[in-house]
Amino acid sequence: MKYYIPTKVYQEIDAVKVHAEELAGYGSYALIVTGKYSARANGALADVEAALDAYGKKHVQYDGIEENPSVETVMKATEFGKRNGVDFVIAIGGGSPMDAAKAIAIMLANPEKDADYLYENVAHTKALPVVTIPTTCGTGSEVTGVAVLTVHAKRTKASLPHRVFPVLALADPKYLKTASKKVIGQTAIDALGHMIESYLNTTATDYSRMFVDQGLKVWARSKDALLGMREMTDEDYSNFLLASTLAGMAIAQTGTTIPHSLSYAITYELGVPHGIAIGYFLPGYIREADVADQEYLLSTIGFSSVDEFADFFQVVSDCGILPEENIRQVVDIVVENKAKLALCPYPLDKEVLLRIASWRK
Ligand SMILES: [Fe+2]
Repeated sequence: MKYYIPTKVYQEIDAVKVHAEELAGYGSYALIVTGKYSARANGALADVEAALDAYGKKHVQYDGIEENPSVETVMKATEFGKRNGVDFVIAIGGGSPMDAAKAIAIMLANPEKDADYLYENVAHTKALPVVTIPTTCGTGSEVTGVAVLTVHAKRTKASLPHRVFPVLALADPKYLKTASKKVIGQTAIDALGHMIESYLNTTATDYSRMFVDQGLKVWARSKDALLGMREMTDEDYSNFLLASTLAGMAIAQTGTTIPHSLSYAITYELGVPHGIAIGYFLPGYIREADVADQEYLLSTIGFSSVDEFADFFQVVSDCGILPEENIRQVVDIVVENKAKLALCPYPLDKEVLLRIASWRK
């Protein structure tokens, strides 16, 4: 049994304002890492700038983080941070800015290294302090040490071997309100994937399953809003944000498994958004599992069968049937990843992987 998450988390309305002193206390010059628009639109950027200003801390924004950020982008942001002499990093956004921020924090703390260092195995990773402010409800990156980047040279996305846990996560559900319904749906599916993959995982423990169990229950309270059965309420935003953080706490212990592995090259090759790609593979992953596990997972989130579960994704995140050649390509990649296969609690070979990957009604 092991449990490790050294991230202090506050989830509440006005979290940035309430904890401004703590936020400002991690350095004297902050690099604020964001995408192009949303941090401005949802008010998080203004809140962070006001908090830093109130405590006399300098800050500079890098807003060039694209979706599924690349190693090249990380290096550009690192150069920008170096030129300005920043000493801590604040990420505002979804998984893309948060994951990029962790990688940037590594490169800024190791200025003599080049980009290859990002994928080098080292005993101890040095990084600048990272503060995360999630504005979507999927990644859980605000409480994990993991960063996934796009590696163009390999035509896929890949996790860094380094672990950089944020020192502080300020989760304010009000920032979710300006996100589109599509983004809320896709990111909520990503969080669900994290919980299911953490549960159906050979490294799952009572610690990790404690987070999954509560996360699934919180997620299920607001499922109907994803299906458009009612309008999204403040409580729904709060539930999805909490569920995604709990899911992050679970995968921080276990990692993700097959649906995530299958998704990366699909996202790279076909541009299918992360949450949609995860939803595509989840029903197949559950369907192959032990019946008792299946029943527990489905009943906890309020589904009576795998079929009903699969229908849910077609309502919330449909992307049609993926081309067979892409399915075969990702299966060929994943079947070689023995470390990932070992995380799946049931035996996997190419045939089972093909069944998981192509099971879509
Ligand atoms: Fe994910």
